[in-house]
Amino acid sequence: MSWGTIATWRMADDGVHKAAALLANRGTAGDAVETAIKAVEDYPYYKSVGYGGLPNAHGILEMDAAFMDGDSFKIGAVAGIVDVKNPISVARKLSDEKFNSFRVGQGATEYAMLAGFERCNMLTPRAKKIWEQRVEEISKHNLDPYDGHDTVGVVSLDQFGKMCAGTSSSGLFMKQAGRVGDSPLSGSGFYVDSEVGGAVATGLGEDLMKGCLSYEIVRKMSEGLAPQQACDEAVYRFHHKLKKRYGKAGAFSLVAMNPKGEWGVATNVEFTFSVAANGEDSQIFIANMGADEQTIIEPISQEWLDAYEKRIKAPID
Ligand code: GLY
Repeated sequence: MSWGTIATWRMADDGVHKAAALLANRGTAGDAVETAIKAVEDYPYYKSVGYGGLPNAHGILEMDAAFMDGDSFKIGAVAGIVDVKNPISVARKLSDEKFNSFRVGQGATEYAMLAGFERCNMLTPRAKKIWEQRVEEISKHNLDPYDGHDTVGVVSLDQFGKMCAGTSSSGLFMKQAGRVGDSPLSGSGFYVDSEVGGAVATGLGEDLMKGCLSYEIVRKMSEGLAPQQACDEAVYRFHHKLKKRYGKAGAFSLVAMNPKGEWGVATNVEFTFSVAANGEDSQIFIANMGADEQTIIEPISQEWLDAYEKRIKAPID
């Protein structure tokens, strides 16, 4: 039986590696998704997810996350949750609730505390410093405040044919309090059906919501398209439509997998992702939009990885 995991961004690679080991040992798709996302949430140098994520305009780190089970369609989600160590685990737990399974703000944080999840100050000194510098830059140079929205999104397939999907994000840096992106929204940030496949998104939530692109990719796979074709058609068609009808299209990138462990990706910006499928260990690729509306996918270079490592750990003056 096929198995695999695909996830957005280079930052997911360690988690995909862990998820692959779990799936190879007959672990479940749900555990693979949660494991992969927790690895990103726990790493302090990733500025857009979990611990170390960048805060909103008031300096408060509000996080969004979701979990979906592709067998039962159960969904759990949180938005604007604060001071909780692993939002993905809270979302997964909420997916077992018949009612109240999508919780926001104080209600989400209270639920997590009552359910026994770990309380943690998620705002690192480094993230606080970056925020302070940004606040100063914005007022000095009258800049557009918004920057950065890299979500970790994961789709997993286990050896029993079950698929799950999950997302986690601190959302748009300098967002207004209470702003929610695509990541916890079914159909926009994620969607999965074990009989068809799953897709997850990263990018500007406000624009991803306009196209419900995760659902659209899964819908195309249900019509018989391979994941790569489904991603190319859904993402580039919507990119052009949005430019024509809305005037511009923010950055967005999506990855998908089907129950055979075949995968696909499409993006309107340079985008990295990690995938482990059918017995192979995780591998990082870089993707770009090709001129003919077919995604160009290449293995990542060591030079790129070295520069990335340097960039994320660069000292903050
Ligand atoms: N894609 C994450 C966000 O826009 O919040």
